[in-house]
Parts: sequence; structure tokens; C-alpha cells
Amino acid sequence: MAKNKQKVAVVSGGSRGLGLGICSMLVQEGYAVATFSRKRTTELDDLMASVPGRMYWQSVDVADQSQIVNFLRNVKKELGRCGYLVNSAGMANEGLLTMMKNSEISRMIQVNLDGSIRLAQACVKHMLVGGGGAIVNVSSVVGVRGFKGVAAYGATKAALDGFTRGLAKEVGSIGIRVNSVAPGFMETEMTAELTEKQKRRIVRQTPLNRLGTVGDVASAIRFLLSDESRFITGQTIVVDGGLTV
Ligand SMILES: NC(=O)c1ccc[n+]([C@@H]2O[C@H](COP(=O)([O-])OP(=O)(O)OC[C@H]3O[C@@H](n4cnc5c(N)ncnc54)[C@H](OP(=O)(O)O)[C@@H]3O)[C@@H](O)[C@H]2O)c1
Repeated sequence: MAKNKQKVAVVSGGSRGLGLGICSMLVQEGYAVATFSRKRTTELDDLMASVPGRMYWQSVDVADQSQIVNFLRNVKKELGRCGYLVNSAGMANEGLLTMMKNSEISRMIQVNLDGSIRLAQACVKHMLVGGGGAIVNVSSVVGVRGFKGVAAYGATKAALDGFTRGLAKEVGSIGIRVNSVAPGFMETEMTAELTEKQKRRIVRQTPLNRLGTVGDVASAIRFLLSDESRFITGQTIVVDGGLTV
């Protein structure tokens, strides 16, 4: 397909976990996909090798705005103008708030909130020129309900949902939709420290009786990027098997 006809999606944090699953699903759907992380992984190398010329990766720290601007300039050159964004890069420092270092709290706010806002701001400028687009911010059930040990992380995710609603109002009239997907617990590197006992407890509390998978969440994101969801904006879709119902 000619470069200017391609649907170009930017996915932050595509080296592993949910971000990698989203990249894989979107290239299968026919999107050209640009992604970044600080480090590359063999899983991402394998995916990129399987779709030559349809993916782009660069090392970027999402907390550094100059790196974001440079990345988007290169994406335009390599694949075309970005029309879709998934803000998936994120980090979680867990622990009781009273025990947490200020540097850990600040870093989470910089990566999960500032980084996502700045990346959306830069992508919206590209979408404006391109005549529209769609954005999905990956928040969390932890931002929807309170959970012990993740108060600061949950605050960054609840703020991201607030950002989704505000931005949706700002850019709806110019053809850009903005939604959040709030996953429940998925088995990725981020949840690797959960014990088997903790996982069993989460499963017991989940009406659909299992933990989530990357595919469960990526499917909801694919829907929110697609024209199938053309009248949905400003929403947070919870994908948690009913855990928070
Ligand atoms: N796993 C869950 O149960 C769960 C539940 C609810 C919500 N979420 C959310 O879902 C999203 C994806 O989580 P995941 O489980 O897939 O996490 P993960 O396996 O830890 O992957 C995180 C991704 O983000 C990238 N990343 C982290 N910090 C970054 C930075 N400063 N700059 C650029 N890239 C950065 C990582 O690459 P590098 O480390 O190489 O930079 C990696 O590609 C996150 O926003 C998370 O909060 C996860």
C-alpha cells in the first residue's frame, strides 16, 4: 500500500507485555505500526522480522519530550503520518505509600501520566493535519477502584481517565476520538511478582473465573481504534472479567 494511504498507529511500550500484543494485533489488521521502549526484545525483533517494512521501533524514554518529538518525526519519514495512538507504556512501583520513596512516586507520574499526555499532545498535532484519528489510553482497574499498595500508581491511572474525558471534548469536533481501556490483572512482567495465592484470590473474585490475557485487552483496544466504535468517545472501558463489578 502507498505510504500516504497506510493507517499508521503509534503504540508506546511495544517491546513486551500488552504493548507487544497490541502491535501484533494491529499489524495483522493491516496497520503500519510504530513503537518504542527503552530497550528492544527478541520477541519484538521476531514480530518486526515477520512483517518487513510495516513496523518501526526506536529507543525512547517516554518521560523525555524531546525524544518523543524526534520519534514522531522519524515515524512520519518511515511509515507516514500517525493517525492512531495507544498509550500503553507504563510502570508500577508497589508498596504502602508511607514506605515509598519520593523519587519512585515522581517517576511513576512522569512515565504514566506526563509521558502519556505529552505523547498524545504531539500525536494530536499530526492527526489534525491528517484530518482525524483515534487515541486509546491504557489505564487500570486500580484507577477505577481502590487497591491497597498501589495508591500512587492508581492515582496516575485515574488521572489518565480524566485526561481522556477532557481531551475527548477538545478534539471530538475535529474527528479525533479518545477513550481509555482499564485492564484488570493480566499475566505480564508487570504482575510477575504476584504470588500463586494472590492470583488464586483474584481469580476467585472474578466472575469470569480467570486472569485476563494480553489478547483480551488488545481486542478492546483494536475495537476502540476502529470505525466500529465511531460514536464512542471519552469513555473508560473496563476489561477485567467482572472483577470490579
Ligand atoms: N499487567 C497488568 O496486569 C496491567 C493491569 C492494568 C493496567 N496495566 C497497564 O498496561 C500497560 C502495559 O503493561 P504491561 O503489563 O504490558 O507492562 P510491562 O510488561 O512491564 O511492559 C511495559 C512496557 O512499557 C515500556 N516502558 C516502561 N517504561 C518506559 C519508559 N520510561 N519509556 C518508554 N517505554 C517504557 C517497557 O519497555 P522498557 O522497559 O524497555 O522501556 C515495556 O515495553 C501499562 O500502562 C500498565 O500500567 C497492566
